[in-house]
Amino acid sequence: MKKLWGGRFTKRPEQWVDEFGASIAFDQQLVQEDIQGSLAHVKMLAKCGILPNEDAEAIQNGLLSLLEKAEKDELAFSAQYEDIHLNIEKHLIDEIGPVGGKLHTGRSRNDQVATDMHLYLKKHVLNIVSLIESLQKELVEKAEKHVETLIPGYTHLQRAQPVSFAHHLLAYFWMLQRDVERFKESLKRIDMSPLGAGALAGTTFPIDREYSAQLLGFSSIYENSMDAVSDRDFILEFLSNSSMLMMHLSRFCEELILWSSQEFQFVEIDDTYATGSSIMPQKKNPDMAELIRGKTGRVYGNLFGLLTIMKGLPLAYNKDLQEDKEGMFDTVTTVEGCLTIFAGMISTMAVNEEKMEQTTKQDFSNATELADYLAAKGMPFREAHEVVGKLVLICIQKGIYLMDLPLEEYEQASSLFESDIYDVLNPRTAVNRRNSQGGTGFSQVKAAIQKAKALLSDYAVNQQS
Ligand code: ARG
Repeated sequence: MKKLWGGRFTKRPEQWVDEFGASIAFDQQLVQEDIQGSLAHVKMLAKCGILPNEDAEAIQNGLLSLLEKAEKDELAFSAQYEDIHLNIEKHLIDEIGPVGGKLHTGRSRNDQVATDMHLYLKKHVLNIVSLIESLQKELVEKAEKHVETLIPGYTHLQRAQPVSFAHHLLAYFWMLQRDVERFKESLKRIDMSPLGAGALAGTTFPIDREYSAQLLGFSSIYENSMDAVSDRDFILEFLSNSSMLMMHLSRFCEELILWSSQEFQFVEIDDTYATGSSIMPQKKNPDMAELIRGKTGRVYGNLFGLLTIMKGLPLAYNKDLQEDKEGMFDTVTTVEGCLTIFAGMISTMAVNEEKMEQTTKQDFSNATELADYLAAKGMPFREAHEVVGKLVLICIQKGIYLMDLPLEEYEQASSLFESDIYDVLNPRTAVNRRNSQGGTGFSQVKAAIQKAKALLSDYAVNQQS
C-alpha cells in the first residue's frame, strides 16, 4: 500500500520499521482533538480563499462523519498509517475521495500534533483542577467535624506538640491550593496555538493563524514557528506540576497508612477502600493509599523521561518528540485516578477521636507549655527550657507524666510554679492557647475553615461563569 508521503521513495520500509515508527497504538487517544484541529484548519483555509468553499464543505462533512464514527468507536486504525494524523487523513480520502487530500494544505503534522497536544492538555488540566477542588472540599468537610479533636503533632516522627486534627487536615488543603494555582497558571502556556507554524518555517499560503486559534478556543498563538513545533515546555510543566501534586498525595497517604496501623489506630479506612490478605484472615490493608504513594514514582519517571528526551534536541521537530505522548497520557490517567480515589477515601474514613485524644495525654508533648509558663512569668526561655527538661527527666525516671507530678516537685524546681500549671498542662488548653495567626488554636482553625470555604465557593462561582 502506498504511503501518503511515498512520492520520493523507490522502496517501502520493512514492515517492522513501520511498526517500530508507528505511534497509532497510543496517539489514537488524540482522535477527537485531531479532528477538531482539522475542522478549524479547513474553515480557516476557506475563509482565507485558499480552498474553494465546496471543497472545504466536503472536507468538513467528511471530518464530521469521522468524528461521529470515532465517538461510536467505529474507526479502525492501522500501524500502516503510522499515526493518528495519517490514519484520519486516509479515512477522509476513503470517505470523500481525492478532495480529502486538500486538507493538509498549508500545514504539517508537526504543527498538527502540537495543536492536538495543547487541546488535549487544556481539557485535562481543567478536569484535574476540578478534581483537586473536590478533594479539598472533602478535607474541609472533615476538618469542620474535627476542629476540637486533638491529635499528637510530630517533628522527626517524635511527639512534639498536640494539634487540632482539623489543623492537620487543612495543612493538606493549602498544599493542594498551591497545586490548583500552579495548574491554573500553567494554562496560560497550554492555551496557545501552534497551528499554522507548518513544518517549522511557516507557509507560503496566506493563512490566518489568529482565526484558527480563535476557532479552537485558544487565547494566544506562538510567536515563532520553530518554537511552536518544537516546544514541549507546556507538557514538562504539566508533568512537573503533577509530580508536585503526587508528592503531596503521597505524603498524605504515608500518614493514612501509619494512622491506620495497629500501633496508631487513629483512623480506619473504609472497607470499600481497603483489601484483605489471601493468607492472613485478620488483615485489612490500606492498599489504595499505598498504591497512590507508589504511583507517584511513575509520574516522576514521566517527568524525567521527557526532560531527558528534550535535552539534546536541535531545532525544530525531531521524531524523538513522538516519545512525549505516553508519559503525558499515563500521567493524566494516573493523576485523575488518584484524585478520585483519594476524595472517596477521605470522605468514608472513620476517625478514632478517643484514641487520638488519649494519645495526646500519654507523652511529654505538653513540656513546651511549662517552659512557656515560666517564660511568661519572666524567666528567660533558655532557663525555663532547662528547668522543664529536668522535670521531664524526673518523670521518666518515675515512670509518670508531667500531669502526675505533685505540686511540691514543681515548686522545688521553681518558685514561679503555682497550682494552675495542671490546667496549662492539659492538651486541650495547650492547643487552644496557640492562637497566633495560622496556629492550631480552635478560633484560628475555625477562621481557616472559613477562608478555605470562601476559596471553594469562589471556584464554584468561576465554574458557573
Ligand atoms: N506521530 C508524530 C509525533 O507524534 C507526528 C509528527 C510527525 N512528523 C514528522 N515529520 N514525522 O510526533
